[in-house]
Amino acid sequence: MKTILTGIKPTGTPHIANYFGAIKPALDGAAADSRSFFFIADYHALTTVRNRGEMARNIKEIVCTWLACGLDPKKTVLYRQSDVPEIFELATILGNVTAKGLMDRAHAYKAAVQAGENVNIGLYTYPVLMAADILLFDTNLVPVGQDQKQHIEIAADIANSFNAVYGKTLTVPEPQIRKEVAIIPGLDGQKMSKSYNNVIPLFAPPDELLKCIKRITTDSSAPTDPKPADHLIFKLFELFGKKGVKTDVGWGQLKQELFETADAYIKPMRARYEKLMSNYGEVEKILQDGATKARKVARTTLDKVRKAIGV
Ligand code: TRP
Repeated sequence: MKTILTGIKPTGTPHIANYFGAIKPALDGAAADSRSFFFIADYHALTTVRNRGEMARNIKEIVCTWLACGLDPKKTVLYRQSDVPEIFELATILGNVTAKGLMDRAHAYKAAVQAGENVNIGLYTYPVLMAADILLFDTNLVPVGQDQKQHIEIAADIANSFNAVYGKTLTVPEPQIRKEVAIIPGLDGQKMSKSYNNVIPLFAPPDELLKCIKRITTDSSAPTDPKPADHLIFKLFELFGKKGVKTDVGWGQLKQELFETADAYIKPMRARYEKLMSNYGEVEKILQDGATKARKVARTTLDKVRKAIGV
């Protein structure tokens, strides 16, 4: 049985590109015949989120989003990284078999240096912490986007270095790179991203969802002119599973239809989300239960590692 593990950084309110690009594929991939661990990488978010209210809100929104979208905590172990101290102990150990040159070559660190940012040690050793997240759970497969591929390769390198010194102790993981579900367009046709201010929040209330959809950039073609089939409105129809949309109607009507399609798709998940957000005590219990399960597995690996190094 394969072990699948992935981390979710709580850095902002989930939008529909997060849903179609990451959340849905990850949930579809948590197959019945695998052991799966999904966790909130809150200590990784410390490199960018430096406000306690924002951190707490991001964590809450992310956990409720994944549960609302169908994560089944009976099948998948769901936990917060910060609730599993074994991860940080392993990270300290792994740092000693990690070449500094490996960190110097990490994309995120290099980009920060190039941008002239003040780099801190948290950013510099980010890949070691990520290796600990992965290696602690005997992970075989790590489903991630293309941008995280190097991090998984670094984790595999670190596992191999450890095993070379201490004998085969750690499982060497492999990345499972998500196919890009095309670039999911934002309101202005660029890639949907918080930094472009063009997102459609996944769980916006209906009136806000409609407002967002009305903001989608369109041209001034006449209502009867056929609309270009590759326009992002049609891409969004496709993502929401609507077929046979007429193109020779006005943009206004198409937007109204898109709103109705999107709203019908999102509605049941949104209702679950709102319920979870207002019953966070229940969610907290799920997280505590997940942490207990995760720590049991973590303890076994860490004991092996401690024995291997002789402490
Ligand atoms: N670095 C990942 C990201 O930015 C999040 C992450 C942290 C992660 N630890 C992980 C992903 C372990 C997979 C496995 O998206």
